[in-house]
Amino acid sequence: MPNKIRILPDDIANRIAAGEVVERPASIAKELIENSVDAGSDRIVVEVAAGGKESLRVSDNGCGMSHDDALLALERHATSKIQSLDDLKELLTHGFRGEALPSIAAVSRLTLETRLADAVEGTRVSVVGGRVQDVSAIGRGQGTAVTLHGLFFNVPARRKFLKSVDTEFRHIVNAVTAMAMAYPEIGFDLKHNGRQVLQLGRSRFDRRAEQIFGVRYGTDAIGVESKASGIEVRGFVGKPESARKSGAQQVLIVNNRWVQHKAIGFAVYEGYGGLLPKGLAPSYCLCLSIDPARVDVNVHPSKREVRFADERTIYGLITQAVQQSLRGADLIPEMGDAVMPVADTPVSIAESPETTYQLGQPKVGGQPQMALPLTMRMSSGKTKRGTGVNTDDLDEEDFARVSVWQLHSKYILAHIKNGLIAIDQQVAHQRILYERAIDNMHTRPATSQRLLFPLTLDFSVKEILIVREAMPLLEKMGFGIRDFGGHTVVVDAIPMGLRTWQDGQLLRDMVRDMAEAEQATSVSPSLQARQIAPEEHRLASVYAWHTSIRTGEDLSTEEMRALIDQLFATREPFVSPYGRPTLVKIGLDEIDNRFKR
Ligand SMILES: Nc1ncnc2c1ncn2[C@@H]1O[C@H](COP(=O)(O)OP(=O)(O)OP(=O)(O)O)[C@@H](O)[C@H]1O
Ligand SMILES: [Mg+2]
Repeated sequence: MPNKIRILPDDIANRIAAGEVVERPASIAKELIENSVDAGSDRIVVEVAAGGKESLRVSDNGCGMSHDDALLALERHATSKIQSLDDLKELLTHGFRGEALPSIAAVSRLTLETRLADAVEGTRVSVVGGRVQDVSAIGRGQGTAVTLHGLFFNVPARRKFLKSVDTEFRHIVNAVTAMAMAYPEIGFDLKHNGRQVLQLGRSRFDRRAEQIFGVRYGTDAIGVESKASGIEVRGFVGKPESARKSGAQQVLIVNNRWVQHKAIGFAVYEGYGGLLPKGLAPSYCLCLSIDPARVDVNVHPSKREVRFADERTIYGLITQAVQQSLRGADLIPEMGDAVMPVADTPVSIAESPETTYQLGQPKVGGQPQMALPLTMRMSSGKTKRGTGVNTDDLDEEDFARVSVWQLHSKYILAHIKNGLIAIDQQVAHQRILYERAIDNMHTRPATSQRLLFPLTLDFSVKEILIVREAMPLLEKMGFGIRDFGGHTVVVDAIPMGLRTWQDGQLLRDMVRDMAEAEQATSVSPSLQARQIAPEEHRLASVYAWHTSIRTGEDLSTEEMRALIDQLFATREPFVSPYGRPTLVKIGLDEIDNRFKR
């Protein structure tokens, strides 16, 4: 038998490798820009024709290469950036595999022009499909330019997969802008078909973010800055109001590398704590700095992904950093802004009978101004437990004496620093009860009170299945409930302090609504990030819906204060479990405006 195994010739091996590194013109732009950055350039020019399908050129004013290096750079595994495997652990450069240039050269017609700072002349190398055609001396400025024409001219199958000029160019813009965010101190130019598309002078991060994302710091972008456990997070997040259905730009940079990371994306969403309208995405750009030894950069052919040694810590930190920044900003929707989507009201409710409503321990006193949790910077770290109220401006005594009024037995008005907020009492209370139920299910089962007379409840076939499924969760919420066989259960205990039991009507209503809501539950990123299962969400929402205080109920000052306090202690204070806004802010400036002051 003759031998079958053969070593592949270099050009074929390179073309195969190119399949992984070179996905589309944008991935080439990224690789070449990375090389220019590694070369210490402070100005990088990217020129594109026909979305990169026709030509792509990246030129820089970096260190350049010698004649010999220019030839070596086009060989596989030729790199100046690492010498041993250990170097990977402390990698500060983008490149390390020595694959990008040969891979790109294998699938295009490429020209490399370069000159070292102190060399009298430069070098030009022309390569076609990976084979060097010509090497010559040239005169040029310091730095390097790589130009390629006819991408995939020799791999027609790949060429067919390229998308339209516009699409390919959009990907290039994404790559260039992301790199430009990672390196604000480098100037970037981008030209398409001879037209200047981007011209970014050397700058600072916030200035560049404003140029690229078209945001204004303080108006629609909120700065993020936080440092803990040796990890630094900085950048900005877009205000929820500016979230969009599509076209939101989300850039993640880890140790100056532009990467994609789903879990981090979720962690950012979670930081918004339900503030984001459903189906809309925020723009953001976050940069993580972390000890290189804690990040594995060698997990993806085009280095678009990284892996972290201690993922959980990092996600937690990101969520926290985003949350704190949003809290620090004046984030409550202004009156008249329709920013929150209102979910269809899922159930009809019979008004519950009058019950005394008790919340927290009230204090009494005068009427100072309340510092609204989210209008305050959290940087002092001295926050009143759970509420996010900054204690620099307000001590606990003061908080209890904030001015509050009830309007039409429906809304609570509270005096805040720059105006006032109106809280929908019913919806806000739903959020509080929902969070409590979730907490009972996840960590602390509720305490129960025994019923004097156990109650037998009958359900329909469909309903009894739902009850049986929900039983373990209901127990955690404080219901004592036993399966009696057939369609019957016996209830002998209910959650302590439950305000609406109505001889079991509550449970019947909840089960009916759950049966209706069964198909309707979608899993939002926030639920996923908080690890709330759809069935937990469903049960906690209907429970909150049916047991909350209602429109029409009069509240005492102490009850109102306690409600505000508890609302801001929840994880997602601005939306009800059904997606309705819990409060709006009416700014002093808006009132001033109306008075034409
Ligand atoms: N713009 C440039 N300026 C100066 N030197 C460059 C430039 N581009 C490439 N080089 C040199 O050529 C070598 C090969 O580049 P290439 O991108 O193929 O590999 P790499 O950057 O080392 O690793 P990777 O494949 O991970 O990108 C680099 O190590 C560097 O020494
Ligand atoms: Mg490289």
